[in-house]
Amino acid sequence: MDVSLDPLLDGPVFLRDLHHAPIVLDRGEGAYLYDEAGNRYLDAAAGAAVASIGHGRAEVAEALARQARRLAFAHPSKFITRPTLELAQKMVDRAPAGFNRVFFTSGGSESVEAAIKLARQAHVARGLDGKHKIVSRRTSYHGATLGALAVTDQEERTAPFAPLLRVEPKIAPCYPYRCRDCAATRSCTTACADDLERVVEEEGAAALAAFIAEPIVGSSAPGSHGPPAYWRRIRDICDAHDVIFVADEVMSGNGRSGTWWAMQGTGVTPDLIATAKGIGAGYASLGALLVHDDVFEALRASKRDFAHGHTYSGNPLAAAVGSVVIDVIEREGLLDTVTAMGELLLKRLAETLGDHPHVGDVRGRGLLAGVEFVADRDTRAPFDPNLQVRTRVSRACLERGLYVYGGGGSAGRMGGDHVLIAPPFIVTSEQVTFLVETLCEALDAVVADLPGTA
Ligand SMILES: Cc1ncc(COP(=O)(O)O)c(C=O)c1O
Repeated sequence: MDVSLDPLLDGPVFLRDLHHAPIVLDRGEGAYLYDEAGNRYLDAAAGAAVASIGHGRAEVAEALARQARRLAFAHPSKFITRPTLELAQKMVDRAPAGFNRVFFTSGGSESVEAAIKLARQAHVARGLDGKHKIVSRRTSYHGATLGALAVTDQEERTAPFAPLLRVEPKIAPCYPYRCRDCAATRSCTTACADDLERVVEEEGAAALAAFIAEPIVGSSAPGSHGPPAYWRRIRDICDAHDVIFVADEVMSGNGRSGTWWAMQGTGVTPDLIATAKGIGAGYASLGALLVHDDVFEALRASKRDFAHGHTYSGNPLAAAVGSVVIDVIEREGLLDTVTAMGELLLKRLAETLGDHPHVGDVRGRGLLAGVEFVADRDTRAPFDPNLQVRTRVSRACLERGLYVYGGGGSAGRMGGDHVLIAPPFIVTSEQVTFLVETLCEALDAVVADLPGTA
């Protein structure tokens, strides 16, 4: 028997990582996290694009306590509360034109599941019973539940569950750094959008219900994003074949791009917007599906109800939090800060890491950025996945007081290592400088330690 002497690894909490003990955190303040030993970490990933307004906001804690004293739970089958009504109105007021309904969830995977089921039901409502397949992009991540995982394309997350997953069509990602069509120019030819047309031909429009994609990619290829022309082409193909376009804004939404929704920065309007993370900002488990009138009215006209729901949908505590988060973002002008700090972050990353022999790509929009590490800059060959460069870099950062979110799979089956950088919207220019310099120092230390790459 493998006996661990670590009290956490051997303790009652079933940890996600069974082999490395996590750090026990004690508190958070602004952009910083503090562990029980008193160490401070700059939260340069806001958890995972979650803590949008920063940690330790008394105003949010007070709103939560007020609502908890008044009413903490109302079952959504028969009841609704004022905080839920207010939050929905605030989200509608800030959504693209035509989005007048919000379906609440408790997180990103639930929002994606709701999008998949609503897309399907809206087609059935119009008598288009054959429409059931959900197209997504290769190397994407859309959530951990089985429906969301079926539209995800990351072998390390999907492989153990392959027999349980519906086989859904995948198209090329819009990923200039590793794109066969435009890698040389690093600007998108939109050939990757045409790949959706290929799937329409192969599967038949009568079978296709929806297409789902992130306007700015989060964990699977952080910071990569297509130009407006890409999204226009996607929109045209969806319109031509009656395919519902779902924007997964679980990470990119709620202000992280510098506009409320990243799709607003492309000039293209999707049909559904799935979101979570930044709207609860870490203070509550809150997600939402923003629904365009066309989809909503298709369902309503059928005289059916949405055959879907969760016990915690529209929970008043979570809704009270979401409302305060929106108020704080607006009162403190944080959308402008996101734009300014996002530009500074990308500039500093490019200056400091742009010529690094093991940095292949630096990209992002707003405060959603990524740095991709490579074994060879010229061939863009990723590191051997067994080296676990992403894990080494994020650990080396933690040792230096910086938290970034390491990930992989951006180079498909061949692996790929990157870090997601998505700090709270209140990040300062001094913190951006610390972040970039510390990441560079950590990367150098990791590379110096790798067999054969120093
Ligand atoms: C783009 C995207 N969609 C969906 C999800 C799933 O969200 P959750 O972990 O809240 O279920 C995530 C989580 O990282 C995500 O990044």
